[in-house]
Amino acid sequence: MNQNKKSEIDREKREFILFLAKTTGAVWLLRFFPVSSFISGMGCSTSSSRETKISYELFPQSVASGDVTQSSVVLWTRTAGDTSPIVLQVSESKDFSSIIFQDVLTPKSDDDFTLKKKIENLSSGKRYYYRFLKDNISSPVGTFKTIEKNPERIRFAFISCQDYSNGFYSAFYHLSQENIDFVVHLGDYIYETISSPTFQYAQLRQFELPSGRKTAYDLNDYRALYKIYRSDRYLQAVHERFPFYIIWDDHEFANDSAQTLSPDNGKDFYNSLYQPERRLYASRAWYEYMPADVYFDPKEQNPLKQIKIYRKFEFGTLMRLIMTDERLYRSEHPCGEGAFGQRYLATNCENINKTTMLGQEQFDWFLKELENSHKDGVIWKIHGNEVCISQMIFVKSDSGQISYLNLDQWDGYAGERQEIFKFIKEKQIKNYVAVTGDLHTFVAGELYDFDPKEKVGVEFTATSITSSNLGSLLRSAELFEQVEKNLLELNRNLKFFNSHYHGYAICEVTRDEIIVEFWRVSSIEEPEVEKTEKILLKKFRVRRDTNTIEDLTP
Ligand SMILES: [Fe+2]
Repeated sequence: MNQNKKSEIDREKREFILFLAKTTGAVWLLRFFPVSSFISGMGCSTSSSRETKISYELFPQSVASGDVTQSSVVLWTRTAGDTSPIVLQVSESKDFSSIIFQDVLTPKSDDDFTLKKKIENLSSGKRYYYRFLKDNISSPVGTFKTIEKNPERIRFAFISCQDYSNGFYSAFYHLSQENIDFVVHLGDYIYETISSPTFQYAQLRQFELPSGRKTAYDLNDYRALYKIYRSDRYLQAVHERFPFYIIWDDHEFANDSAQTLSPDNGKDFYNSLYQPERRLYASRAWYEYMPADVYFDPKEQNPLKQIKIYRKFEFGTLMRLIMTDERLYRSEHPCGEGAFGQRYLATNCENINKTTMLGQEQFDWFLKELENSHKDGVIWKIHGNEVCISQMIFVKSDSGQISYLNLDQWDGYAGERQEIFKFIKEKQIKNYVAVTGDLHTFVAGELYDFDPKEKVGVEFTATSITSSNLGSLLRSAELFEQVEKNLLELNRNLKFFNSHYHGYAICEVTRDEIIVEFWRVSSIEEPEVEKTEKILLKKFRVRRDTNTIEDLTP
């Protein structure tokens, strides 16, 4: 057979296989066809990644991986509106010389051209590389390592609050160079507002929403926020290098939100503080853009049933990561939806014992997961927790009147918090560690049940990547220094409280102890983030079975 005839038949065979795979969903067919032939049919070669050209024009948000387990991972990308078939490849080698999995995915405008694929049957404890291809155009190459069957050591970062308008991502530049297994993202991946006068006045990176409004109310605007935030090369670099476990906080929908309630914005647009349609849009955009393995039903019109993001991950008997959703099912704030005197600094609010943070179903699930971890002999129960669980009394009068700093966090849901603490005591669950975001503040605290007084765990809160610290909200760092002092005096459970810096936290887990480091960056105002430094602010240790925070800062 002459060579031209043979390659013509090969081409037809390739096209037929591709057609069948696409139209019937039978992607397994691709495995019966030599990968190299298929890819050469797509116009590129697997023998060397040198022949492909990486394009941020075609893949403007780069790639991401998430929810990695011992045998699976979710891989993500987005095209810039291109609806041609895209080949996803997974390899054990950086140069993709052998492909262990591939699939053809088709971007659709309905999903804003995002592509997401769960890969299964991977080997545990193994490093993999992945990329997306159109002809000889490739996405950047991402990498992840599957979880070992029973690891002896895990090192992870936990982060939150990355307001794009408020600064440059120096924290992501430094984080991308850390030696960690994964990133736990505790929410505020985006902010729904672009120039709120209360906390976004820095305006270091200005941009517009497609609607021209200053706040996202529709799907298009929420999607645009993810696209803009993820256009940052340093955030992309962290995603390319490490898998994420992500939950949301309030700003993926609306500030201080509870279910469909948005206390601070959208009232004029929706004629109500309750904005179910907006909540559906916000959750949908989050689902489209996050490499998360969660339930989502695009047709469901009940926002509380449309998506479920709380979930857990197992790391042998070393640790379990239990991540909760503290926005979609929580009750409204106990003392009203106004700001000062209601959500913040409310005095003698008795309703804090009647509220729920998790909702009944998730609450039951959470306790069961804590108990199961204990029964399974898991040492560290790491709680991926959105808002601070530590008690933070702001003022205590001589007559015993108490006002809490912030009733949007667990202090406003104290009855449910106490039920969790009592359960931990009753079941003798040890080594409960909450890792938290939301407050834009580095906090280390021991968790107490006060009836009778006993320690039940510890909590570490990472400051923001860029979002305004509490001091800048008061427009006075000096005034806030006094506030910090008061908080530490009134709340002996707190071991450290600092709201002056931006950065991230790293947690190293071994069988005998956990070490938590608070890393701050020298500046978020320097656009050339390579010029910034990372500085160790604090280093803590918690030895197994102690619930006690030791300060190891050099
Ligand atoms: Fe935040």
